[in-house]
Amino acid sequence: MSLPSPLSRLKLPIFDQKQLSVYVKRDDLIHPIISGNKWRKLSGSLRYAKAHGLKGLVSFGGAYSNHIHALAYACQQDNLASIGIIRGRPEYSNNFTLSMARSWGMSLQFVSHLEYKQRAQRDYLEQLQKTYPDHLIVPEGGSHQLALYGVAEVITELEQQIDYQHILLPVGSGGTIAGLIKQDNNQHNILGVAVLKQASYLNQEIENLLGRVKTSHCRWQLLTEYHGGGYAKFSETAVQQLVAYNKQSGITFEPIYSGKMLLATIELAEQNYFAAGDTIILLHTGGLQGIGGLLEQGRIAKNDWSVPNFN
Ligand SMILES: Cc1ncc(COP(=O)(O)O)c(C=O)c1O
Repeated sequence: MSLPSPLSRLKLPIFDQKQLSVYVKRDDLIHPIISGNKWRKLSGSLRYAKAHGLKGLVSFGGAYSNHIHALAYACQQDNLASIGIIRGRPEYSNNFTLSMARSWGMSLQFVSHLEYKQRAQRDYLEQLQKTYPDHLIVPEGGSHQLALYGVAEVITELEQQIDYQHILLPVGSGGTIAGLIKQDNNQHNILGVAVLKQASYLNQEIENLLGRVKTSHCRWQLLTEYHGGGYAKFSETAVQQLVAYNKQSGITFEPIYSGKMLLATIELAEQNYFAAGDTIILLHTGGLQGIGGLLEQGRIAKNDWSVPNFN
């Protein structure tokens, strides 16, 4: 693991025009496979499983899940078993993401969309625990209490690196932002960019993870208008913008998570949300393996994006 992750200055004309200093916290560089928020969120679960002598981890994800991909590799490295409960059909097991997860020893169990919906229900989880005794069940996206400690280190690292006013990050299941909020303790303005539609329910999920209710003193906010059409959806215009920004900056922002955060930041800057002179941190949460899945599905052009190589 390459920690602390560095900061890269992101110079785009709009940021210069608005006198904003924008830096990317390069968690995408932590590790080629367990990159971004994956290492931050999984480290606590791995440590817990080993400390309690458990055999392995069980978790949930879609067919191209970054979380499943990273968890499979991390478990292999730690001599733990891994079981992925995957939404969808067994044919998916040969896709870009899951073929790698299998090569790292993960057992896949495919379930219907209906069964997958039960993934957070108590009786379903009790049954699953009986099927896999001596395993730690990790929720979808790895977002549970054990994730918060690892994520908190982002804030600790930033304290040593830079003075800043705002931090932005993409939000899917809420664990990453919860870890930041907890450690930050109202020092900075934390803006989560929800990457899925109708995401305001995540406010409650984040509060549940924090174990406290949001008050007017809290300096964090979930932005729910920048999902770009819904989870893993994006327009051709958005992709073309990202391709251009990636070329200019030398940093890869993919269209499902970090790209939505970047486009939201640009829109906020255009709307003068930030004050001249502000310093803004964009947390790059990794997920670059997702590009392989998007290329495989023909959703982005080969000439514009390179396939991440994990061999
Ligand atoms: C690359 C990437 N960024 C951001 C997120 C969102 O993080 P969280 O689910 O903790 O909100 C995810 C999903 O876990 C992800 O895979």
